[in-house]
Amino acid sequence: MEQFAQYADWLYLVGAVLFILTLRGLSSPASAVMGNRYGMIGMTLAVLTTFFASHNPNLALIIAAMVVGAVIGIYRARTVPMTHMPETVALMHSLVGLAAVLIAVAAVFHPGLQHDTIHRFELFVGCFVGAITFTASVIAWGKLSAKLAARPLKGGWVKPVQSILFVAMIGLGIEYFVTENIHAFLGMTAVALVFGYYWIAPIGGGDMPVVVSLLNSLSGWAAAGIGFTLNNSMLIIAGSLVGSSGAILSYIMCRAMNRSLLNVLFGGFGTQAAGGGDDSPTGERNYRSGSPDDAAFMLSHSDQVIIVPGYGLAQARAQNAVKELSEALKEQGVKVRYAIHPVAGRMPGHMNVLLAEADVSYEDVFEMDSINSDFPSTDVVLVIGANDVVNPAAKDNPSSPIYGMPILEAHRARTVMVIKRSMATGYAGLDNDLFYLDKTMMIFGDAKRVVEEMVKAVSGTGH
Ligand code: TAP
Repeated sequence: MEQFAQYADWLYLVGAVLFILTLRGLSSPASAVMGNRYGMIGMTLAVLTTFFASHNPNLALIIAAMVVGAVIGIYRARTVPMTHMPETVALMHSLVGLAAVLIAVAAVFHPGLQHDTIHRFELFVGCFVGAITFTASVIAWGKLSAKLAARPLKGGWVKPVQSILFVAMIGLGIEYFVTENIHAFLGMTAVALVFGYYWIAPIGGGDMPVVVSLLNSLSGWAAAGIGFTLNNSMLIIAGSLVGSSGAILSYIMCRAMNRSLLNVLFGGFGTQAAGGGDDSPTGERNYRSGSPDDAAFMLSHSDQVIIVPGYGLAQARAQNAVKELSEALKEQGVKVRYAIHPVAGRMPGHMNVLLAEADVSYEDVFEMDSINSDFPSTDVVLVIGANDVVNPAAKDNPSSPIYGMPILEAHRARTVMVIKRSMATGYAGLDNDLFYLDKTMMIFGDAKRVVEEMVKAVSGTGH
């Protein structure tokens, strides 16, 4: 093992290159499977290298921990439904935060270890970031899985409590840094755990995806901090990759919602309308509705159809029925494509994952920027459980809270069909002018049930 240690840095370098290739692979659905494989090989290499390069490792304990972790991980990965992915990701981040705290505490209490100023700084930062990540991720998991109320914690006292906890946490950390007082270190850790709760509890359930992405970033930085403490270059590189990719993803999500990160973290409309749903517009506006049979007839007599999936498709688990519908239409000579908005659904890539699960060909799936110019020449746009991402107010109503948010321009198609259960609002809590256009037909009902009826009707209709 001693001899092996001299090759460790080279093997870590190979691992780091594999992780970079992983991120590159994950940037497109077509290369995502290969990207995942690179990640698995890189992680196996990193774990084995760390294992063999350690001095006197406690083999029994390490192997037992790895077996328990692997069994839980494999079971969870096999059983988790796609719709529960956001909360599963939140839970996994909490484990990274917890690991950072445990390693930092173990390093502080390790009898043989001396901590110079730089080490104490790394321990201080790695530990409090890890502790905040742990509690905040558990709260995010609770809100996303509806085990905790999605509504935000409100009250004039919240911000002062947050500020007091933050100042106490940093103050205790500085005391440890200057005096090496272990009690100050433990106090800082305890306050950071409580601060994590008060940081996330005031944010509405609807904004949790951005928060999860931000926590992903924080967990990466916590791991990188601990990498410095343990003098492990692999942990530093992997942590930095996770930290920076999570930060970039948070930025992309905020930009696609036309909101700033500060607006998400310190109160925006996500806090008022988290989850959307009940605020049905009460005005007298007229809209046109039709049956699945009417819709099927028009679809099968079109040349070009674009399907716009949204959060409701995920809720209804309608992805397989939608795939059947597009196959049935293709058999009748209709060109069918899918248009994906970057924040459709409740997590990045939500719609891509669902469509991939139903085996929809990547070639039929288009990102917003590449398909928006095709809407005017499209016969029918079929909007399934989407709302905010096709709201034209974002383009033409400067007083709308979502004004400026990029949208899929479904309103420019010749005919629009919308499948949803009612006239209720979506996540942003806003009425949608698209539903009231003369060329729009609403088809009310659960997306899966409606689409299944449409499949039957299309299969019995000729072009
Ligand atoms: P939403 O605007 O939330 O609209 C979803 C619609 O689906 C609702 O209006 C709802 O209407 C309908 N629906 C729900 N269950 C249904 C079912 N079983 N069958 C049929 N319809 C159903 O969704 P969107 O258009 O996908 O937009 C996403 C929103 O989430 C955006 O505002 C975005 O900013 C926000 N957001 C997204 C992310 C990411 S990363 N994706 C992160 C944070 C926030 P009914 O109740 O009438 O059925």
